Amino acid sequence: MADKSLNEIRNTFLKYFEKNDHRIVESSNLVPNNDPTLMFANSGMVQFKNVFTGLEKRDYQRATTSQKCVRAGGKHNDLENVGYTPRHHTFFEMLGNFSFGDYFKEQAIHYAWDLITRDFGIDKNRLYVTVYHEDDEAFNFWKKIAGFNDDRIIRIATSDNFWSMGETGPCGPCSEIFYDHGDHLAGGLPGTKDEDGDRFIEIWNLVFMQFEQISKEKRIDLPKPSVDTGMGLERIAALLQGTHDNYETDHFKKIINSASEILKVKSDNSNLSSFRVIADHLRASSFLIAEGVLPSNEGRGYVLRRIMRRGMRHSHLLGSNEPVFFNLFETLRDEMKGNYPELVRAESLIKETLKMEEEKFLVLLDRGIKILNEEISKIDKVLPGEVAFKLYDTYGFPLDLTEDILRNKSMSIDSEKFQSLMKESRELAKKNWKGSGDAAVEDVWFGIKDKLGATEFLGYETNQAEGAVLSLLKDNKEVDELKNGDEGMIIVNQTPFYGESGGQVGDTGEIAGNDFKFEVTDVQKKLGDLFVHYGKVINGSIQLKDNVELKINVERRDDTRAYHSATHLLHESLRRVLGKHVTQKGSLVEPSRLRFDFSHMKPIQTEEIDKIEGFVNNMVSKKSDVKTRLMTPDEAVENGALALFGEKYGEEVRVLSMGDDDGSYFSTELCGGTHVRNTGDIGKFKIVSQSSIAAGVRRIEALRDKQLEDYLNNKEKLSNISSEKNDQIINNLSEQITELGGKPSLDESDQRILIKNLTKQLETISVNSILEDKTKNIIKDEQINGIKIRFQNVDGLPPKELRKLVDKGKKELSEGIVIVFAAKDDKVGIAVGVTDTLTNKFDAVKFVKTGSEIIGGQGGGGRKDFAQAGGQDKSKIDEAFEKLKTLI
Ligand code: ALA
Repeated sequence: MADKSLNEIRNTFLKYFEKNDHRIVESSNLVPNNDPTLMFANSGMVQFKNVFTGLEKRDYQRATTSQKCVRAGGKHNDLENVGYTPRHHTFFEMLGNFSFGDYFKEQAIHYAWDLITRDFGIDKNRLYVTVYHEDDEAFNFWKKIAGFNDDRIIRIATSDNFWSMGETGPCGPCSEIFYDHGDHLAGGLPGTKDEDGDRFIEIWNLVFMQFEQISKEKRIDLPKPSVDTGMGLERIAALLQGTHDNYETDHFKKIINSASEILKVKSDNSNLSSFRVIADHLRASSFLIAEGVLPSNEGRGYVLRRIMRRGMRHSHLLGSNEPVFFNLFETLRDEMKGNYPELVRAESLIKETLKMEEEKFLVLLDRGIKILNEEISKIDKVLPGEVAFKLYDTYGFPLDLTEDILRNKSMSIDSEKFQSLMKESRELAKKNWKGSGDAAVEDVWFGIKDKLGATEFLGYETNQAEGAVLSLLKDNKEVDELKNGDEGMIIVNQTPFYGESGGQVGDTGEIAGNDFKFEVTDVQKKLGDLFVHYGKVINGSIQLKDNVELKINVERRDDTRAYHSATHLLHESLRRVLGKHVTQKGSLVEPSRLRFDFSHMKPIQTEEIDKIEGFVNNMVSKKSDVKTRLMTPDEAVENGALALFGEKYGEEVRVLSMGDDDGSYFSTELCGGTHVRNTGDIGKFKIVSQSSIAAGVRRIEALRDKQLEDYLNNKEKLSNISSEKNDQIINNLSEQITELGGKPSLDESDQRILIKNLTKQLETISVNSILEDKTKNIIKDEQINGIKIRFQNVDGLPPKELRKLVDKGKKELSEGIVIVFAAKDDKVGIAVGVTDTLTNKFDAVKFVKTGSEIIGGQGGGGRKDFAQAGGQDKSKIDEAFEKLKTLI
């Protein structure tokens, strides 16, 4: 097999099992869609997890795959080792064969032995196996099938021979096959102290799946004994190509040679690890981006960013000051597109993302490395924690890079000091945040949450419930009573009202008691799970500890839940039609429409829209029940689920499955929202607009059922109206468009963007003309007690412009206090700025509070250097200003 390429070896494996009645199943996505506890698929069995446990049925009992895996986060994490060894990867392919309650140990051992010694032609004298120490069965099968003497079958008692996917999930004893690369390499047999050397290498792991780990303490039997095996494609390819180094295979050589050409640097022993890192990280980054994971500062996006930046740092180490990865991608694409068409589909997204990140990173890197090198020249072995912290905190230079650079020079960081500085800075940030005006309002919730704990949400099951009043708020302060006419907030121990989250808006409805009625206009969740009902008392009054009846507006909720379920079907349909790179970037679910933002580079074609709508409407017309599962473990969080989903989940995680896709579910998503019971309740669905909202992110708006009918009726009516008036508007508009240098033949979404721009420009023009009008914009500069103070009063200006004027005033005074009032229609705004040099003496929040009280407003908020509030009475502006002067 020495002349076989990595691609051919993958094929030989799959075909062998196909010949033996296994279904060749496509690799699942790296981002698992069936497990909220896992960051990335880390082995072949992940996509079959629920098949092993019996939760999911497939129409085959034997499967074989080549699965994309990433081990760079969670239980299996190899990131830091990549580059420094011949075998570690962040991205790799795992070949595997699976039996779901079909064959077990004997047959699994037979297939493995047959394939490697016959089809792969590996010399059996070089092979050894391990079994779990108690597993006599496996021991005896190996003896029988391979004809091994006892000394070739090694019993291992450690977790090395007991495989589990993560903290929870299917698991079982395993048996591993080892290859002896020869005594020219150092290393000992498994179980010996030298086992980690390069001589005896594990090539295949056969897991005899028997159990499911439910929690740390609890393990149950699987419904039927099963088989899961895993063989690293890169590793077996190395062996079959006569090397022990994965990076010496045809596949990696192509990428490394191409990197060497682009970088104009030859690879040799001195720079080998950089080339390895580049090749590996290019693969991981490209495949993750192909699935719509984009670099960010949290969750999966953060892991991706770390991988990308680590790779880019090494191309920089090799002397490059230009982005490299997007060029190198083409070699990878050509190498792997046969098996992974997503690399072609998402090509532009991958290239643009790689290029953008590298450009940004190079700037940061140059600066950081210069500083670090200066510091390194001053030290012997250990970099002071203060320096590492400054690099990280002030210059945004990633800690793992500092560590990596130091490691190359056999140096390290004083991490104790670094950690203590990190802790201090976190505490300081918290303190500052709490001290600011805005946060002072929010601060209220900390106290209430401490006192009351979480609100129990009953709204999945019921629209109506009784609750005990635990807290009442008016003007952001806790009170004992809300009276007739009061606007305020109510917190109860349990509620059927949904609090806005996951894109779904909060419920509205009514809270009632004896002669008491409160109209709920919104519900927000504070600090994760404190449900706050906003609204107004329309009858009677309410006291703390009263019992009340809570009733949501059912019709509105039903519409909202239908839109939420429609969003799930839309999401999956987008992925099926446009590709798996589509991932959710934002979502709004209202009772009257849905809006969905997702990663995709191009406008969606009309035929594609038809197909997407077709998928959704097909699922609706099949009228199938929606299934909700609660998946426990707290360990989900430990495993990174918190960072993963960017949201806080409670004791349990909800997983929603819906749509009858020939016996299995069409869509499965992690979701805390409320949904229809049956897809038929969604009604007819249609996409009514699409637009681009940022580079690589598109937005869809869609309607269903009643709203869709109204929309279609209106559209028809509109098109019947004489178009005279429209013509006039369009003529006007195209004149302006032409003036702006645009083309009048724009599509609908671009037109909307243009109109938005024009409206914005019109606003700017009107703001500017007010500011230029000396009768409307009055500025007085004075000095009081040696402090410069500016008073500015602008008539006709929308209050949202206030901040700019304050900033401008602060600049012009360089040191002083700026007080600006603006009045438009019956709204007055006040904003106050204090230059940084004076914030130890004056607090903008106080000024704003005093000022807004006089103009008939309340509170307001901000920070010491800037605060803002509203009011109603513009005749009091002069009076307010005089009062403010007395504070100086
Ligand atoms: N799931 C097993 C592994 O990853 C086969 O080693």
